[in-house]
Amino acid sequence: MALCGACTVHLDGQPVRSCSTPISEAEGKAITTIEGVAGPEGELSKVQQAWISEQVPQCGYCQSGQIMAATALLRDNPKPSDEQIDAAMAGNLCRCGTYVRIRRAIKVAAGIEAPKGAAKTGEQAA
Ligand code: FES
Repeated sequence: MALCGACTVHLDGQPVRSCSTPISEAEGKAITTIEGVAGPEGELSKVQQAWISEQVPQCGYCQSGQIMAATALLRDNPKPSDEQIDAAMAGNLCRCGTYVRIRRAIKVAAGIEAPKGAAKTGEQAA
Protein backbone atom coordinates (compact mmCIF):
# COMPACT_ATOMS: atom_id res chain seq x y z
CA MET A 1 0.00 0.00 0.00
CA ALA A 2 1.16 3.54 -0.80
CA LEU A 3 4.07 2.28 -2.85
CA CYS A 4 3.47 3.81 -6.29
CA GLY A 5 2.14 7.34 -5.77
CA ALA A 6 -0.41 7.14 -8.58
CA CYS A 7 -3.17 8.26 -6.20
CA THR A 8 -1.30 11.31 -4.90
CA VAL A 9 -3.55 14.23 -3.96
CA HIS A 10 -2.89 17.35 -1.91
CA LEU A 11 -4.19 17.66 1.62
CA ASP A 12 -3.91 21.30 2.66
CA GLY A 13 -1.36 21.60 -0.13
CA GLN A 14 0.79 18.69 0.96
CA PRO A 15 1.07 15.62 -1.28
CA VAL A 16 -0.36 12.48 0.33
CA ARG A 17 -1.26 9.00 -0.86
CA SER A 18 -5.03 8.91 -0.94
CA CYS A 19 -5.00 5.09 -0.83
CA SER A 20 -3.50 5.09 2.64
CA THR A 21 -4.91 8.31 4.10
CA PRO A 22 -7.79 7.69 6.49
CA ILE A 23 -10.79 9.94 5.95
CA SER A 24 -10.45 11.14 9.54
CA GLU A 25 -7.11 12.69 8.58
CA ALA A 26 -8.79 14.65 5.79
CA GLU A 27 -11.57 16.09 7.94
CA GLY A 28 -11.63 19.87 7.73
CA LYS A 29 -8.74 20.02 5.29
CA ALA A 30 -8.64 21.18 1.67
CA ILE A 31 -8.33 18.26 -0.74
CA THR A 32 -6.97 18.96 -4.21
CA THR A 33 -7.08 16.27 -6.87
CA ILE A 34 -5.65 16.39 -10.40
CA GLU A 35 -8.89 18.07 -11.50
CA GLY A 36 -8.15 20.97 -9.14
CA VAL A 37 -4.70 21.75 -10.49
CA ALA A 38 -6.08 23.73 -13.44
CA GLY A 39 -7.27 27.30 -12.93
CA PRO A 40 -10.86 28.31 -12.24
CA GLU A 41 -11.65 28.67 -15.95
CA GLY A 42 -9.98 25.37 -16.77
CA GLU A 43 -6.70 26.93 -17.86
CA LEU A 44 -3.91 24.41 -17.52
CA SER A 45 -1.22 24.91 -14.91
CA LYS A 46 2.41 25.34 -15.97
CA VAL A 47 3.04 21.76 -14.90
CA GLN A 48 0.14 20.45 -16.99
CA GLN A 49 1.27 22.51 -19.99
CA ALA A 50 4.80 21.15 -19.64
CA TRP A 51 3.46 17.59 -19.43
CA ILE A 52 1.80 18.19 -22.79
CA SER A 53 4.70 19.98 -24.47
CA GLU A 54 7.15 17.29 -23.36
CA GLN A 55 4.70 14.49 -24.18
CA VAL A 56 5.38 12.87 -20.82
CA PRO A 57 2.68 10.20 -20.49
CA GLN A 58 2.93 6.78 -21.99
CA CYS A 59 0.11 4.60 -20.61
CA GLY A 60 -0.90 7.44 -18.28
CA TYR A 61 -1.62 5.34 -15.20
CA CYS A 62 0.86 7.11 -12.93
CA GLN A 63 0.62 10.58 -14.44
CA SER A 64 -1.95 12.29 -12.25
CA GLY A 65 0.14 11.37 -9.22
CA GLN A 66 3.29 12.54 -10.97
CA ILE A 67 1.72 15.91 -11.74
CA MET A 68 0.49 16.31 -8.17
CA ALA A 69 3.96 15.55 -6.81
CA ALA A 70 5.61 17.89 -9.32
CA THR A 71 3.13 20.66 -8.52
CA ALA A 72 3.94 20.39 -4.81
CA LEU A 73 7.66 20.34 -5.55
CA LEU A 74 7.57 23.51 -7.65
CA ARG A 75 5.38 25.31 -5.14
CA ASP A 76 7.98 24.65 -2.43
CA ASN A 77 11.06 24.89 -4.66
CA PRO A 78 10.45 26.90 -7.87
CA LYS A 79 13.91 26.15 -9.35
CA PRO A 80 14.85 22.62 -8.29
CA SER A 81 18.10 20.95 -9.24
CA ASP A 82 18.13 17.53 -10.91
CA GLU A 83 18.92 15.96 -7.55
CA GLN A 84 16.06 17.80 -5.85
CA ILE A 85 13.67 16.73 -8.62
CA ASP A 86 14.78 13.12 -8.33
CA ALA A 87 14.43 13.19 -4.54
CA ALA A 88 10.98 14.77 -4.63
CA MET A 89 9.70 12.41 -7.31
CA ALA A 90 11.34 9.22 -6.00
CA GLY A 91 8.13 8.00 -4.38
CA ASN A 92 6.15 8.19 -7.61
CA LEU A 93 6.76 5.12 -9.74
CA CYS A 94 6.26 4.88 -13.49
CA ARG A 95 6.24 1.40 -14.92
CA CYS A 96 6.57 2.87 -18.42
CA GLY A 97 9.82 4.59 -17.49
CA THR A 98 8.89 8.18 -18.31
CA TYR A 99 11.30 9.53 -15.68
CA VAL A 100 13.50 11.42 -18.15
CA ARG A 101 10.48 13.19 -19.64
CA ILE A 102 9.06 13.88 -16.17
CA ARG A 103 12.30 15.55 -15.09
CA ARG A 104 12.42 17.57 -18.30
CA ALA A 105 8.78 18.67 -17.93
CA ILE A 106 9.43 19.83 -14.37
CA LYS A 107 12.35 21.90 -15.63
CA VAL A 108 10.17 23.34 -18.40
CA ALA A 109 7.43 24.20 -15.89
CA ALA A 110 10.09 25.83 -13.70
CA GLY A 111 11.37 27.88 -16.64
CA ILE A 112 14.78 26.19 -16.42
CA GLU A 113 14.45 24.70 -19.92
CA ALA A 114 12.46 25.76 -22.98
CA PRO A 115 9.55 23.56 -24.00
CA LYS A 116 10.44 21.10 -26.73
CA GLY A 117 6.87 20.96 -27.94
CA ALA A 118 6.70 24.70 -28.62
CA ALA A 119 8.51 24.34 -31.93
CA LYS A 120 6.24 21.48 -32.93
CA THR A 121 3.17 23.51 -32.06
CA GLY A 122 4.50 26.40 -34.12
CA GLU A 123 5.18 24.08 -37.03
CA GLN A 124 1.63 22.79 -36.93
CA ALA A 125 0.18 26.29 -36.80
CA ALA A 126 2.21 27.51 -39.76
S1 FES B 1 3.04 6.36 -17.95
FE1 FES B 1 2.61 4.23 -17.68
S2 FES B 1 3.03 3.91 -15.57
FE2 FES B 1 3.72 5.92 -15.92
